[in-house]
Amino acid sequence: MLQQVVLTGIKPTGLPHLGNLVGAIQPAIAMSLDNQKRAFYFIADYHALTTLKDAQLLKAYTLQVAATWIALGLNPSRVVFYRQSDVPELFELSWILACFTPKGLMNRAHAYKASVQRNAEIGEGDVDAGVNVGLYTYPVLMAADILLMQTHWVPVGGDQVQHVEIARDIAQYFNRQYQRAVFVLPEALIDKQGRVIPGVDGRKMSKSYNNTIPIFGPSDALRKRIVRIPTDSSAPGEPKDPETSTIFHLFRLVATPEQTADFHAQFLAGIAWKDAKDQLFSRLAQHLAAPRERYRDLVKDPAMIEGILDHGAEQARDLAQDTMRRVRLTIGQNLR
Ligand code: TRP
Repeated sequence: MLQQVVLTGIKPTGLPHLGNLVGAIQPAIAMSLDNQKRAFYFIADYHALTTLKDAQLLKAYTLQVAATWIALGLNPSRVVFYRQSDVPELFELSWILACFTPKGLMNRAHAYKASVQRNAEIGEGDVDAGVNVGLYTYPVLMAADILLMQTHWVPVGGDQVQHVEIARDIAQYFNRQYQRAVFVLPEALIDKQGRVIPGVDGRKMSKSYNNTIPIFGPSDALRKRIVRIPTDSSAPGEPKDPETSTIFHLFRLVATPEQTADFHAQFLAGIAWKDAKDQLFSRLAQHLAAPRERYRDLVKDPAMIEGILDHGAEQARDLAQDTMRRVRLTIGQNLR
């Protein structure tokens, strides 16, 4: 049976938070258990470099993000788990793909467009102020990530769907030019439930809103974050609506159906906000207790994480070289 490749990149620009856990990490790990698929997950350190230029921080985030995924159950014998920059074939392909990418396609990419718009809003005369070429061609590198591994499926959040469509467009331009199906045409896999995970202020949990709950932060920090969740002024004993409560929504993400039903009933019976927050805190702490211990051991042993990523890169490069042989022959180059 031919397995289909499922691939996703994780940008190491911060520590993973609960929104990442529920929206990306848990679904991706579940998908890696599907025998019909071959999973490739990688730390996208080159993409991070478009914004993160602190060497120590980039290195630390790379290892901590990798440790987080492993601690939460990513099994390196089921997933080709690697660091993007350990696969140099990516750059050969990136250039080649750039030659098939209409410049206008990059002009329309969301992240670039947003920068242009910001500049216009603040009255900056140069629409491209603050935009480096890496940011501008970000979607080409991402297309190379995807097409190099002959990817069918790309699990991503809604904000990345356009990038996967761009990768598919570029693959089609290339295949059409040479009249050969060299590249697999990738498709985005979006969380069907389309859940928005609320942050501690009730808006979507996101680094840019500073409202996240870190997965493995110190536990007093976790408590402080939860205390910050705004509530209405209803007193203890007054019935509360679970559906409009951020506390309830967060609880449900890490609870069994029975625990959720019980918490729901307590809301209707008028639980005090303070008790509700305490219960959310203990549920989260319990949910994360075992992974937290694994995480602590892993970050103490960076060599072990590096070893896993190195091994993943070797496997990724096997496939990358296979793709590059076909690409080189197709465009009229020699094999090396
Ligand atoms: N751009 C993605 C993000 O910001 C990360 C990423 C890089 C990626 N390369 C990828 C995702 C390839 C999927 C496939 O989240």
